[in-house]
Amino acid sequence: MVCAVATTTARACANIALVKYWGKRDPQLNLPAAGSLSLTLDALVTTTQVTFDAGLAADELVLDGAPARPAELARASQLLDLVRAAGRLATRARVVSRNEFPTASGLASSASGYAALAVAALGAAGVAMSARELSILARRGSGSAARSVFGGFVRMHAGRAGDGSDAFAEPVASPLTERVRMVIAIVGGGAAKTHGSRDAMDHTAATSPLYRAWIELVPRDLAAAEAALAAADLEQLGTIAEANALAMHASAIAARPAVIYWQPATLAALAEVRALRAAGRAAWATMDAGPHVKVLTGAGDAAAVAAALRAVPGVTDVSIAAAGGAAAILAEGNTDHRAS
Ligand code: PMV
Repeated sequence: MVCAVATTTARACANIALVKYWGKRDPQLNLPAAGSLSLTLDALVTTTQVTFDAGLAADELVLDGAPARPAELARASQLLDLVRAAGRLATRARVVSRNEFPTASGLASSASGYAALAVAALGAAGVAMSARELSILARRGSGSAARSVFGGFVRMHAGRAGDGSDAFAEPVASPLTERVRMVIAIVGGGAAKTHGSRDAMDHTAATSPLYRAWIELVPRDLAAAEAALAAADLEQLGTIAEANALAMHASAIAARPAVIYWQPATLAALAEVRALRAAGRAAWATMDAGPHVKVLTGAGDAAAVAAALRAVPGVTDVSIAAAGGAAAILAEGNTDHRAS
């Protein structure tokens, strides 16, 4: 069979959750135990090129200019296998991926990485999918990647179906989308994180006495966050986001043994965020599977929030992001290619 396969380059922006995803109902299919809500960010971009090449004996993955570790390659190959199945291809692929992040930060890049990989691989395989199907595919690479398919505020649904067909993300329109900013404070110079989110959330679910309370909390926070988005109430959204992040970390800290992502400078940055609020600034913190602090704020306060965080000892880099767009194809080059 001869079919058009080619090289496709795609870009996707990372996202930061305001109501976190922390725990799975199915580890095999990457099905979340609860929904989540995020903001896609323009400053954190992954660009990925996929080429299906009949001359390759195995998939190849180059990440930021260096061959990927075997575990990273195996995970990318699993997503490529799903694309090959959809496109009825057997050809192996060469994947070249680059994170255009403000610093070599250790910021979670799996969201933008797997969203960009899904878009580029589908394009190169000549497979068309709806945005919802694309979100479901990206989820198989990383739960948070389902959200990076879309721009702005994004709601991920936990779904109920055993096959994951209703566990997808979709954009949430809000008057806040243009007004919000996220100040990203890098703590500890971007040193590699100690616990990957994938294993740490499974460990929390299996051992933390606070996990059940966390899972019961998420639907309430989601409803309140969505109401805040509809009402363009940044203070309400920020208040929920900070409390939700602290609850997620509390569940992880209570796991046995504990999963602690925070460093002393993380707590110093959190104290600075509270001080900014006391001084009348819009500033609410969230943290993920690492020591960095991301601060939800408004366009008018972003520069002052960034300046205050730059002055916190142990904060090594600070940048300001606005809402980013949906994952998209940047370039395509079709050639006839023989698929076996
Ligand atoms: O999709 P993963 O495995 O990168 O998990 C994401 C986990 C958090 O970043 C901590 C929370 C979230 O919803 O993004």
